Amino acid sequence: MQDQEHVVVTIDGAEYLGAPDQNLLDLINTTGKFVPQICYNESLGPVQTCDTCMVAVNGEIVRACGTEVKAGMEVNTQLEGVGASQKEALDRILEKHELYCTVCDYNNGTCEIHNTVAEFGLEHQSRPFEPKPYEIDDSSPFYRYDPDQCILCGRCVEVCQDVQVNETLLIDWEREQPRVVWDNDVPIDESSCVSCGQCVTVCPCNALMETPMLGEAGYMTDHEPGLLRSMIDVTKKAETGYGPLFAVSDTEASMREDRIEKTKTVCTYCGVGCTFDVWTKDHKVLKVEPQQDSPANGISTCVKGKFGWDYVNSEERLRKPLVREGDSFVEVEWDEALDYTAKRFADIKADKGPDALGFIASSKATNEESYTMQKLARQVFGTNNVDNCSRYCQSPATKGLFRTVGHGGDSGSIDDIADADMVITIGSNTAESHPVLASRIKRSQKLFGQKLYVFDLRKHEMGTRADRFFQPKSGTDLVWLSAVTKYIIDQGWEDRAFIDKWVNDFDAYQESLKKFTLDYAEELTGISKDELKQIAEQIANVGKLAICWAMGVTQHQLGSDTSTAISNLLLVTGNYMRNGTGAYPLRGHNNVQGCSDFGSMPNFFPGYEKVADDKVRKRYEDAWGVEIPAEPGKDNHEMIGAIHEGTLHSMYILGEDTGIVDANINYVTDAFEKLEFMVVQDLFLTETAKYADVILPAVPSLEKEGTFTNTERRIQRLYQALEPVGDSRPDWAIIMDLAARSGYEWGYNSPSDIMDESASLAPLFAGVSYDRLTDYNSLQWPVAADGTDSPLLFVDGFPFEDNKAKLYLLDYELMYETNDEYDLHVNNGRVLEHFHEGNMTYKSKAISSKMPSAFIEVSPELAKERGINEGAEVKLISESGEVTGSVHITDRVSGRELYLPLNDNGKTAVNYLTDNSVDKDTDTPAFKEIAVKMEVIKKKGKSPLPPNNYRRGNPQPQIGVQPERKWERNDYEFPGGQVKQRG
Ligand code: SF4
Ligand code: SF4
Ligand code: SF4
Ligand code: FES
Repeated sequence: MQDQEHVVVTIDGAEYLGAPDQNLLDLINTTGKFVPQICYNESLGPVQTCDTCMVAVNGEIVRACGTEVKAGMEVNTQLEGVGASQKEALDRILEKHELYCTVCDYNNGTCEIHNTVAEFGLEHQSRPFEPKPYEIDDSSPFYRYDPDQCILCGRCVEVCQDVQVNETLLIDWEREQPRVVWDNDVPIDESSCVSCGQCVTVCPCNALMETPMLGEAGYMTDHEPGLLRSMIDVTKKAETGYGPLFAVSDTEASMREDRIEKTKTVCTYCGVGCTFDVWTKDHKVLKVEPQQDSPANGISTCVKGKFGWDYVNSEERLRKPLVREGDSFVEVEWDEALDYTAKRFADIKADKGPDALGFIASSKATNEESYTMQKLARQVFGTNNVDNCSRYCQSPATKGLFRTVGHGGDSGSIDDIADADMVITIGSNTAESHPVLASRIKRSQKLFGQKLYVFDLRKHEMGTRADRFFQPKSGTDLVWLSAVTKYIIDQGWEDRAFIDKWVNDFDAYQESLKKFTLDYAEELTGISKDELKQIAEQIANVGKLAICWAMGVTQHQLGSDTSTAISNLLLVTGNYMRNGTGAYPLRGHNNVQGCSDFGSMPNFFPGYEKVADDKVRKRYEDAWGVEIPAEPGKDNHEMIGAIHEGTLHSMYILGEDTGIVDANINYVTDAFEKLEFMVVQDLFLTETAKYADVILPAVPSLEKEGTFTNTERRIQRLYQALEPVGDSRPDWAIIMDLAARSGYEWGYNSPSDIMDESASLAPLFAGVSYDRLTDYNSLQWPVAADGTDSPLLFVDGFPFEDNKAKLYLLDYELMYETNDEYDLHVNNGRVLEHFHEGNMTYKSKAISSKMPSAFIEVSPELAKERGINEGAEVKLISESGEVTGSVHITDRVSGRELYLPLNDNGKTAVNYLTDNSVDKDTDTPAFKEIAVKMEVIKKKGKSPLPPNNYRRGNPQPQIGVQPERKWERNDYEFPGGQVKQRG
């Protein structure tokens, strides 16, 4: 009757194979039989609140979704009692939810109540609709809750508690009329809700709706308040029985298909790479709908991906090319702008040589645009001076991985991080910088016993949630990592079999660790010897370890070495080459991985092949018909230096506000002023664009095609959802036109042609093509010519000659400290609400209402010492410059640590404080090593953190929706039991 893997179950007289303990409803759904299931969502699992999925199992009526498959089970979905129980459950739902589909903004073919009632064939409900004694909550600028339409299915609670793990929502089952509540029953806008929108995504009906959908989706839904009621009444009078009602509303729903487009796209905000359908009407974005098969995110999003698209329609978008005339810009036609640009580049090249030009690609733009930018630099202008902003964040991580394991990407997928027994995060504010990825960790920790150790200066959300939280002194991660590795080896806890088979240089590495004793580490890091031993023991004992790190590691003078130390520890403990293990440098910008992958780097062609390698260079020279210099070019840090030295005279900057995001703003902008000719290509007149001679209007991701590569090396397609605004154009098309005006006709008809060319030249992408990337299909590089991709990066060893990884020897010297005069340390990074400096997200009124400006976090003890209160105005002064800003007092920071979020491009922009010190191996600015002194301008004032910011909320953690509390109510009766009683 059963083998190890399968059990036989009889459903309506026919035998089916199921997996042992499989959810019965899942099995029934594979048979094509219809069983209503309104609260069930595969991504959430059974919530068991709606009671519509009644079936008979061995003669007993049960919830199919709450039943596990067992061998020999006899299931019946057709018995009269089953149908009656299902009808009873549906009636109870319709008592809570009024069917006015024709005038409902949710009537788009996806309403699960509508569809279930129609498929069940219910013509009339036995219980009349009963309004509930609660007002609509439209306090949030992102979404609204209508209690009258809420069926209390609890999907929203389930997703908020256990998928997003923000723990804002619950159902108060004990009150007379249960209701979904936010925190301890406050309006949405005053709660801990982070506006990720996942509750709205999973709501099966119109109880939760995205605000931009309201009054926009339907033909008859754009009504004044109060009119809805009379329209509902008219509809109900005209439509007797659900058959005619659904006929009308289904016609109206299909009419909507003519004007609402649904287009698959990839989020433009962070390296997690969430994908979703974007719903658009004309040029408006109505909603974002993630899909169960979105590879990186499933049904999840964060506030930026779900709601952060207003910038696309901003009045401030550049609509025409601009050319400088004196101190101002004049609008010109494309021909004039491009002819002029091509001529100026050509003149400078003729006059001062190709290396007088520099090119910066955008890690927000597509892979194809990175490819064309580096091709423009190398083929058309003959220089390797091309780089991108991974230099500001990710290059050290890439370097550390290249040194040890030979590839610079994440070892596995986000699934592997979720699957690890233990996750360590170092210098990563994951919940704010990579929110959807953080949720995977939070869920694994909350529900599946994953251990989470967090190392950071600042006690952010992940620090609060961690099983163990450590605050090593700034810039000392290499020390505790190496000391823990040494201790593991000293105790004989290393993975000897793995090392013998897969790792070189163990003895020399062990010798190099001598210095990293526990005493040395305790003194430098502030982590006690006992704690270091406990960390080592935990790591050594755990089966699968994944380490995630971010800019708190990389933006130091020892960023590459610290990244190397992480990889060394993973090698010594055998945490590579298996699912659930590995190294995960979390990529910041949406395409910072892809921009480097596709060759916008001074030393690499696409696919990380060295420009200095004669064979590789010849491949490109043959394909492009030119000679390419063998010498690597200048990185973006060196380009700024070269301008000051008088050797670089022109820059072409694509989609990056270099004048704000590079370190030492004053030094960078002084350089811009010295340029002979500068071109900026962007969506807005950024701070950097103000220095340009020519500004070219580009389009955002929604207005073009292409691919992005996320942090897991996953290449995903974005489709064009909207027409470009004004005369703006995709970056790749602008670059191609510039190449043509400079004598090189590339002839690409679409980004697909560009990908084909990249794939033909770079072995890493050999099998990548748009055909293989249609819709939600994706590929994780390396991709073999036959299309086989690599979710796990290291399967048969490491890409070195003997297939073995290398332990890399490290030393340590403290390269930075505060001093008596500059006595405070400024840490910095992202906030959840804004993308980097905020050029795009400040265009959203809703996001700005939650986080209107940057601020300076000050610890309670420092505030007391300096006599300042919440909202004080202070000036921070470093040796490079100064910023002023409002103070927010919080114990997220401690002692003399300050935190300055990146979301400002004015007087609080952190890079007025940073200097020219860089990671010694990659030139990544040491953004995290800032010593300042503080001057108090005003002792108190208005808090920079508004009262409606989620940080002020009160989350209410619990597991799931707790349906048992519903079942315990006196007025609850199990539909199956009720039907049985009635006979
Ligand atoms: S955090 Fe807010 S938007 Fe996200 S699921 Fe929870 S209640 Fe919904
Ligand atoms: S608001 Fe929540 S409980 Fe109510 S119908 Fe929507 S998902 Fe279900
Ligand atoms: S910003 Fe990142 S986490 Fe948020 S939706 Fe976009 S890709 Fe996902
Ligand atoms: S689908 Fe089973 S109780 Fe709702």
